[in-house]
Amino acid sequence: MPRAPDGRAFMPTPVTSSAPGKVILLGEHAVVFGEPAIAVAINKRTRVKVTDGEGDVSRVNGFPLSKQYHVHLALAVERLAPGEVVDLVTESQVVSAAGTGSSAALTVAVVHALLRRAGKLVPGDEETVAREAYEIEWLAQNGRGSPTDTSVATHGHGVIVAEEAFDELLWTVKKGPRRWRLHHLDLPPMTLVVGNTHERGRTMEQVAKVGRFVKQSGFGREIIRDLGVATRQGLVALASGDAIALGDAMDRAQNGLETLGVSTRKLERACAAARDAGALGAKLTGSGGGGSMIALVQGDPLPIAKAINRTGCSVFVTALGVEGVRAEDKR
Ligand code: PMV
Repeated sequence: MPRAPDGRAFMPTPVTSSAPGKVILLGEHAVVFGEPAIAVAINKRTRVKVTDGEGDVSRVNGFPLSKQYHVHLALAVERLAPGEVVDLVTESQVVSAAGTGSSAALTVAVVHALLRRAGKLVPGDEETVAREAYEIEWLAQNGRGSPTDTSVATHGHGVIVAEEAFDELLWTVKKGPRRWRLHHLDLPPMTLVVGNTHERGRTMEQVAKVGRFVKQSGFGREIIRDLGVATRQGLVALASGDAIALGDAMDRAQNGLETLGVSTRKLERACAAARDAGALGAKLTGSGGGGSMIALVQGDPLPIAKAINRTGCSVFVTALGVEGVRAEDKR
């Protein structure tokens, strides 16, 4: 059994783990003001393979690991394999900068693999992975961002993030004055089409814009409250498996997000095309200003996927809620 410099036994390498991307089903932006949000794992995953390295420097996909280019991976190695040389190979189906949680999927997968390699993970302990991955995201983003993406990439399925308590608490995360409660959410078998506009939305810009609007106007605060109502309607619809009501909640949320100014023409064209082709509801997902949209489908997703694609988006189909982080090797 190989040993770490401190004599600890760790797993013979390679160790491979994978974690899913996510979409926000309901509640983006409103969650910044204390309303709940629902995030769901998607069937696009990121895999990270960790092997003992040779030579003096750790590598990622053959290149020297650098904080400048691979900040999440470099922080993970610094924290979980200090003083060691490792080779990382990453493989991702999660498109980056599309609002589908690519950095969280990568961070959660590498944290899971490194913790297992160090013999520091009790099987089934999701909380340790989610907390460590959030610390890394938080450091990488200079103290911004919520634990939503890292929690859903770890836990999979659906996750409710809220200040208030719901059933099935997973963990609570505190950072300075902020506190988030993360909860498991059961999801009925439903299908989403995800459309990527390839317009690059910047989360911080969109959050700042909404912040100004809400600070300056009572109307802004009303919209945030209405987005909260849409999310709660969505939760009721999910609990009863009512896809039509969930679609209505998504349309209501898209209206609010348009009024907040975070939608774009391309997102709106894609949503309209999806509804015309029979989607039960459609909305942007994540911070907006570009990025991706989602459409809720009953039956064959192909006509809706094609309609969204014709507006210039690349598309994929996902079931609602998939498995979270997992080992990809038999151990
Ligand atoms: O664009 P994404 O997927 O990172 O989502 C951002 C969600 C916001 O509510 C806009 C911001 C946040 O921190 O919750």
